[in-house]
Amino acid sequence: MSRVALSALLAVAAVAVAQDPTGTEPLADKRFTYPTGIPYQVDPNMGVRGAQNGYNLCNSTTENQASLCQTAFINHIDDWCVWAPPTGPTTIGESEGQEVAWCTKPGRGTRLIPQGAITGVQFLRAKSYLEVIAFLDQTMLNLAADDYGGELDPHGADLRGNPLGGLVFSNGLPLSGTGDNNTYDQVIEWHNFIGSNFSCFKACDPQDPNDHNYCYNQLDRVGIEYVCPNQAQNHVFEVCDSDNQDYPGVYTLSDGTTTSYTQPPESLGAITSMPYTARVPASSNCVTYQSSDLFPSLPTPTNVPATSAGASGSAGPAATGKAGASASASGSASRSGSAGAAPTGGSSLTGGAASLRTSAFATIAGVVVAVAFFA
Ligand SMILES: *[C@@H]1O[C@H](CO)[C@@H](O)[C@H](O)[C@H]1NC(C)=O
Ligand SMILES: *[C@@H]1O[C@H](CO)[C@@H](O)[C@H](O)[C@H]1NC(C)=O
Ligand SMILES: *[C@@H]1O[C@H](CO)[C@@H](O)[C@H](O)[C@H]1NC(C)=O
Repeated sequence: MSRVALSALLAVAAVAVAQDPTGTEPLADKRFTYPTGIPYQVDPNMGVRGAQNGYNLCNSTTENQASLCQTAFINHIDDWCVWAPPTGPTTIGESEGQEVAWCTKPGRGTRLIPQGAITGVQFLRAKSYLEVIAFLDQTMLNLAADDYGGELDPHGADLRGNPLGGLVFSNGLPLSGTGDNNTYDQVIEWHNFIGSNFSCFKACDPQDPNDHNYCYNQLDRVGIEYVCPNQAQNHVFEVCDSDNQDYPGVYTLSDGTTTSYTQPPESLGAITSMPYTARVPASSNCVTYQSSDLFPSLPTPTNVPATSAGASGSAGPAATGKAGASASASGSASRSGSAGAAPTGGSSLTGGAASLRTSAFATIAGVVVAVAFFA
């Protein structure tokens, strides 16, 4: 193709992207303000994977256990969400495009994570990201008991995200400032690994030029200990300061040089060995809480969708969610990560190479589509 023809084509493509009449603008390029600038759906166009399953405009009429709200939050230890299926039991691989927000705090039109499902949480404040590590009974979130899970992020092969149209906001950003809890920033780069009764949700600071590196999205099959190396413990609820982890997939050789790992295609079979162990970032200033103080408003578990807000056993209007009430500092000792440390928390983390899956089929199909577009 001549250079002129190519630039004409690119100009057309740029106009198309700006107005998104064909639904081709990548989800990660779309910007919204919360709460006033949220459309009903951020991905109203049909694509190869169909329509957006839920909606982004969420309010008191959508706040129940059948909510299809796809606007999630990572704010504080008492105030965060995970992505999980709207119906089940199913697997992340089967439902990744359809996930809805399941959250810990009422008031934003989402489902709430049922009481008793959260068995431990470590909320990390690093220089470049907020990260929630949660131990969960995933069967209360419509996941099959034996699902090893997979990765959700705003990319995906067709760039519409998993879930399609999923948005993430935080009132704890930017990390360089003092969050006032009243202003919400859209989190552009994020990833949520959920499965094996465990979740890691990382919300990378959009003001950090390396947000896409910390929330790297091409390592969906190597295990949580590579994408979110951590020292979280089940039955402990704590907030810690944390060093930044290394970029997922980047590691340092014994001669001091850094190198990066590329995940092999799924067609080559299971990943049975890794050339490195991820460095576990040091955490410090951990403050522990009682779960009942953090999550006073969660509904009792039920498979029957609630028909209106609060109908499924919410603790009531008096719930304050004030995390500080009975916080006790767990000592000032800084816990330093060591390269060899296996993530704590039991067998759910030891799946290693085999522990995470997403639909490689979709990825391959998407790449084929992309190649067809640009060929
Ligand atoms: C509440 O959310 C629903 C679902 O997105 C939407 O249809 C409705 O217009 C919203 N109501 C208000 C007042 O924004
Ligand atoms: C923000 O909210 C969290 C609880 O979600 C609370 O612990 C914190 O003190 C609040 N920060 C400010 C500045 O109000
Ligand atoms: C998750 O927890 C539930 C309830 O304890 C259990 O039945 C299930 O086997 C667990 N799943 C995994 C993958 O550990």
